[in-house]
Formats: sequence, structure tokens, C-alpha cells
Amino acid sequence: MTTGADRRPFIAGNWKMNLDHLQAIALVQKLAWTLKDAAYDPKGVEVAVFPPFTDLRSVQTLIDADRFDLAFGAQDLSPKDSGAYTGDISGAFLKALDCSYVLVGHSERRQGHGETDEVVNAKVLAAVRHGLVPVICVGETEAELEQHGTSAVPVAQTKAALAGVAAGTPVVVAYEPVWAIGTGKVATPETAQEVGAAIRAAIAEALTEEDAAATRILYGGSVKSGNIAGFLRQPDVDGALVGGASLDPTEFAGIARFPKHVGV
Ligand code: 13P
Repeated sequence: MTTGADRRPFIAGNWKMNLDHLQAIALVQKLAWTLKDAAYDPKGVEVAVFPPFTDLRSVQTLIDADRFDLAFGAQDLSPKDSGAYTGDISGAFLKALDCSYVLVGHSERRQGHGETDEVVNAKVLAAVRHGLVPVICVGETEAELEQHGTSAVPVAQTKAALAGVAAGTPVVVAYEPVWAIGTGKVATPETAQEVGAAIRAAIAEALTEEDAAATRILYGGSVKSGNIAGFLRQPDVDGALVGGASLDPTEFAGIARFPKHVGV
């Protein structure tokens, strides 16, 4: 039986629509060097970056050539595998670029691109079909929080995203309250724990208890090196999905070094 102690903490940097491929190379190099200087232990924490599509080949080549201990993934994928879908990117292409992960259902896709729970579920299934681990993003708006309370929307979104996913399939779930993204407003560690525990219970229902125990659940929304430790002390928070602060390699490396602050 997997326990919390077996879940390797995961610090993920979502660059959103920032940094072209040349800037991406500079950032990944600086991040790798900063982590090395800080005696980063990849066995203790997994660090991943999520650059724009156009940067992925450069990031792959750099990480591969210099053997950096960094994982990477894309920010979105098509629910389809190939064909007449102008502008879409297949999970097959991401897998061919050695992506390990792909973000699915980020609130900026749900809100700005009308992605429904059904679309998010189709994308999760596409990721799994292509051997990518989906990082399923869930979270409520301020209005939804007032209307439905703390965990209802993230739990419903998690269950919908996992429909048709087979037991034993590795996934990551990121709880990102929409009101905390890019606003400087942070959920309390206690709220992140409450929602993390509710999401874990939802995974147990949708998949199995073993899957729930093995799944890493992240918090996202205005995470910085100064507030990461409080979240990672929570038993049902296994890492962070970081936006703005992931564009600063020193700050992002500071977040990845959280075990030092937490004392684990
Ligand atoms: P910020 O860290 O900038 O609030 O963004 C969070 C986020 O949306 C990560 O996916």
C-alpha cells in the first residue's frame, strides 16, 4: 500500500504564454545550475517545466544533452490523435518529444477556451492513450466558492476528468483556486489540505484506494518560495503548480528546495 511518504513531491512550473525557445534555453540552463549549486536531490523532489509548444524541442534537446534532472511537459493537447484539426497538437507528437506530462483543464483553458468537463475528460483519455501523465487542473471561482463551498467544484471536476480512466493509470491532480491564480491571494494551507483530502477521496471513488494513495495532489495559486513550506507540510498536498514564480529561476529553485524549509 502506497503511503504519503512514498509520494515523491512534485514541483511543476507552468510558464503559460511566456518565453520563446531561446529564452526557454536560458531559463532551463540557469534553473539546472541553480538547483545544482543548491545540492538539489532529484530523488527527494521531482522538478518539471511546462513551456509553450514551440519551446519543447529546444528544452528536450538541452535536458537530454546536458543530462539535467528535470522533467518537462506541455500545457495542453488535442483530444484527437491526428487529422483535420487545424492548430491542434496531438499527444502522439508530445510523446515523440519525450514529454512525460501534459497539463489538462487549466482554468485559463476552461475559461478562455470554453473547455467543459467533457472536453477535459477527452483530453485526459488522449494523454493516457499516448503514455503521457495528465496533470489534471481543478479549482473553483470565487462565485462558485460562495455558492457551493470549499471542495464541491474541485471534487466534481476531478470525478468528471477521470471518467473512463482505468485503475492503475498514473495521474496528477492540481488544485488551483481560480481566485488565487496570478492574484497574490493564496489559499491557506488548511484549505489546500481540506480540498486535497477531498480530491483524494474522489480519486478513490473514481479509481481505487491504491490509486488515491499513489496520486500526487498539488496546490497552485500564487505559490512562492516564502509560502511553499506551509503547503508541503500538509499530508494531502504533494507539491505545487507554479505560474509566475516559475519564470524566475532563482525563485523557482527556492520553491524546489522546500524540503530544507519543511525539514523533511
Ligand atoms: P500563479 O502562480 O502565477 O498564481 O499561477 C498559478 C497557475 O495558474 C499555475 O498553473
